[in-house]
Amino acid sequence: MSNRSLVAIEDYTKDKILYMLEMAKEFEKRPDRRLLDSKIIATLFFEPSTRTRLSFETAANRLGAKVIGFTDPKVTSSTKGETLKDTIMMVSNYADVIVMRHYLEGAARYASEIAPVPIVNAGDGANQHPSQTMLDLYSIYKTQGTLENLNIYMVGDLKYGRTVHSLLMAMRHFNPTFHFVAPDELRMPDEYKIYCHKHGIRYTEHRDFNEDVIADADIIYMTRVQRERFTDLMEYEKVKNVYILHRSMLAKTKDNVKVLHPLPRVNEIATDVDDSDKAYYFQQAKNGLYARQAIICDVLGITLDEVRNDK
Ligand code: CP
Repeated sequence: MSNRSLVAIEDYTKDKILYMLEMAKEFEKRPDRRLLDSKIIATLFFEPSTRTRLSFETAANRLGAKVIGFTDPKVTSSTKGETLKDTIMMVSNYADVIVMRHYLEGAARYASEIAPVPIVNAGDGANQHPSQTMLDLYSIYKTQGTLENLNIYMVGDLKYGRTVHSLLMAMRHFNPTFHFVAPDELRMPDEYKIYCHKHGIRYTEHRDFNEDVIADADIIYMTRVQRERFTDLMEYEKVKNVYILHRSMLAKTKDNVKVLHPLPRVNEIATDVDDSDKAYYFQQAKNGLYARQAIICDVLGITLDEVRNDK
């Protein structure tokens, strides 16, 4: 069993988050380093992905590691009935780290409890997406110069969007004020509101999404309505276009505001926003490379000093 896995963002203390952001900063200065020359990284994606998988694989490649894995469980022996446990035990025979995305909440925790190598949770159902949170935090830190005392607006599918759940938990260290903007069907689940109460996090809920509501934002974190999590697609049809951010809606926002989105976007951010100085979602995805380089190194026991001293 390994204790270096990254399963949930709550596994990180405030100091650890800041330490990981420093490491990401080092990798942004110089992404190509031969720190993982003899390592094998497995990427097991039981659900679709573009950014998470490709940025983890790019991170591994830029560090000199080799990558194995699959992007579609249909081509694996899970279709013959092999259990997740057996799959994890087998891949642990071949790889030094397993990066896994799975549709079941808790799958990454389970894998981390049985695997002899570190597990990195690349998303488990509607639960957590901690590596996304690290790149979100890095993006917020880079654009705001701090993580402290920010007004963060989370907009869209707050029920199924695992990225907002992880981000909310990580921000507990930094005295945020949250604004949850969602239709009734997609409101922030009670467990996360209880979490806010427990940790003294201020939040307000909104149904309306317009230029007055977002005028005070430092961060506008847009999310996609997660079609794949709906059991009734009629319900999805009702809410799929509920909020669309148009460039004109940014007119009253503060100079420092940045629009983030974990991506993929469907139509919740109009393309006229893309050219605005306030749009940051493509740079945010690029920051994923540096954040994930830091995560891979950390689960393998490579320290910030070792990264800094690598010439
Ligand atoms: N943000 C994110 O998880 O994107 P992918 O689903 O493309 O990996």
